[in-house]
Amino acid sequence: MKLELKNINKTYGSTKVLENINFQLNKKECVGIIGPNGAGKSTLFKVVSGIINQDSGSIEFNDKNINSYSVEERSRIGIAQSFQKNSLFLEMTVKESLMLACSHRYKISFNLFKPLINNKKIRDNSLKIAKDIGLEDYLEVKSEFLAYGLQRQLELGIAIACNPKLLLLDEPTAGMSPAETKEIINLIKKLSKYYSILIVEHDMEVIYNLANNIYVLDRGKIIFEGAPNTVKKSKLVQKVYLGL
Ligand SMILES: Nc1ncnc2c1ncn2[C@@H]1O[C@H](COP(=O)(O)OP(=O)(O)OP(=O)(O)O)[C@@H](O)[C@H]1O
Ligand SMILES: [Mg+2]
Repeated sequence: MKLELKNINKTYGSTKVLENINFQLNKKECVGIIGPNGAGKSTLFKVVSGIINQDSGSIEFNDKNINSYSVEERSRIGIAQSFQKNSLFLEMTVKESLMLACSHRYKISFNLFKPLINNKKIRDNSLKIAKDIGLEDYLEVKSEFLAYGLQRQLELGIAIACNPKLLLLDEPTAGMSPAETKEIINLIKKLSKYYSILIVEHDMEVIYNLANNIYVLDRGKIIFEGAPNTVKKSKLVQKVYLGL
């Protein structure tokens, strides 16, 4: 697995939101993108996932240009995402949500007359994911009744249900309590053993904990790249975060 961004530019009106972005993510890496509010992190995330298109530059996945691929096509080749904002079907239980997500993996379309529950492969796989994401005790609970942190854990489960090669996470700890944050960091750490991860996050501490390589974005430009300990020491990064 290799993801490469080459000279990505994106403009909204007269504002350059992304300027000449270059980066690379290799197999089993956890790469973090940090930066202050409005730096362009979510825009970059959306360019990678295919929600929006860049104005120029290329995105390559395993050395193949995927500029023209839709969100669905990108997900089919192994790019899965979990959003900054909650995107669950609130009426569905944890089990139903995971089973529906798994059904995509096995290319089984939802059919009212043949409940997914009767498919052993999907049932087993959903239970395994529920365990992996720490939700095995909530299988019959509707998403709307889960605590916020657990909803975000379920979103991660849905993202990994289709067995992705690359997991895209936008602010996975946004709005979480310290306890919930700790829980989700542990979970992402666990997942990073199996998946390549690109994580966009405002909170530097979260990224220091998870990423092996970090890109710092400020006003649309990458101003620093390096291992967590070098980012931590960078005067430039400190300045940007303090808004100096
Ligand atoms: N659809 C849009 N139309 C116009 N401007 C936009 C749009 N989306 C984002 N922007 C602008 O682009 C800039 C970057 O926004 P983006 O959401 O990518 O920042 P961010 O780094 O994710 O910020 P945050 O930390 O607040 O999530 C901001 O100035 C924002 O106002
Ligand atoms: Mg954002």
